[in-house]
Amino acid sequence: MAIMTGMTSENTANTTMTTPVHTARTAAGTAAGNTAATAPVDAAASGTWTLGDRAVHRIGFGTMRLPQTGPALTPHAVPRDREQALRVLRRAVELGVNHIDTAAFYFSPLRSANELVNRALAPYGDDLVIATKVGPARGPDGHWTEHARTPERLRAQVEQNLRELGRDHLDLVNLRIVGTDPVAERFGALAELRQAGLIRHLGLSNIRPHHLAEAQAIAPVTCVQNPYGIGSSPAQDELLRLCGEQGIAFVPFYAIAGAGREGGASTAEPPQVRIIAEARGVSTAQVRLAWTLHRGPHVLAIPGTGDVAHLEDNVAAGALQLSAQELALLEEAHTDTPAD
Ligand SMILES: NC(=O)c1ccc[n+]([C@@H]2O[C@H](COP(=O)([O-])OP(=O)(O)OC[C@H]3O[C@@H](n4cnc5c(N)ncnc54)[C@H](OP(=O)(O)O)[C@@H]3O)[C@@H](O)[C@H]2O)c1
Repeated sequence: MAIMTGMTSENTANTTMTTPVHTARTAAGTAAGNTAATAPVDAAASGTWTLGDRAVHRIGFGTMRLPQTGPALTPHAVPRDREQALRVLRRAVELGVNHIDTAAFYFSPLRSANELVNRALAPYGDDLVIATKVGPARGPDGHWTEHARTPERLRAQVEQNLRELGRDHLDLVNLRIVGTDPVAERFGALAELRQAGLIRHLGLSNIRPHHLAEAQAIAPVTCVQNPYGIGSSPAQDELLRLCGEQGIAFVPFYAIAGAGREGGASTAEPPQVRIIAEARGVSTAQVRLAWTLHRGPHVLAIPGTGDVAHLEDNVAAGALQLSAQELALLEEAHTDTPAD
């Protein structure tokens, strides 16, 4: 059974679709921090969603880009400068980000995303929700190894996240899967860890609709984290809709990177995205993020970056309200360029 998460009045903050392009330009310039005298936009401008039992701002942050420069999840990645990574995390929280997505398997030879989170942000604020994920596994050399499928291995991964983050419980754990196999046994194992107090809330990642129903028969599902953005397949739209109907947060990854996936963002953008970005004086990344937030009040963005300026840009996207006209144009880009 789903937890029926509450939609606060602020959930509507990003859903106004009537701003005409010419007046929106000023607001977007402000949102992007383009005016020297303008204070940076706070993540609160994106509205809030109750994730499990905590209100989070709809613009969050993903840590996958922090341990390295260049493509993520590769064995010989070049470690990112530690101070730069710590600055990004601290700036995110300063700007009101209170939903951070991470994983123990986000690491490069010299940096661990979880360790960076711990170093930058502990002791953690009461309002901070740190979501992590289990299932995928990488050996010490950084190569992928077999997914965790047994209760023992899943527990070991939960314990690793607890140690690295320096916590006694994890706020939110996503079971990240590949393929179409049933999830009942694995989700059941995590539900037991939840009962034992090691985990507060559970989610699912990279799933199909049948997985959601299967998991809900075992324990409440707080969020679904799937690849999603302009150009995603109709199947992802369907899952997004299903989550909305049930009050489950839908948390897209690769909303900016799209088909670039772990390789990162590409400069090739559909013309519709470029036209709107230019007209508004904002970045294409901001248009992409704002578009995801307009897909429903239950959509929570977790853009990843290792760059403070990009972080500020992404947070500001939470204040970017797209008009009905602009949304219609982006719908063309969405349906014309299926990426998955
Ligand atoms: N559940 C899963 O299976 C799964 C899979 C992948 C990711 N995730 C989570 O989702 C988060 C988001 O995914 P992601 O980080 O891969 O992709 P993303 O947020 O879609 O895009 C990140 C890419 O866009 C660039 N970028 C970010 N902000 C930008 C801006 N304002 N202007 C220009 N370029 C910008 C980044 O480069 P710079 O560093 O140069 O800014 C990077 O190349 C991850 O951090 C991770 O927490 C989950």
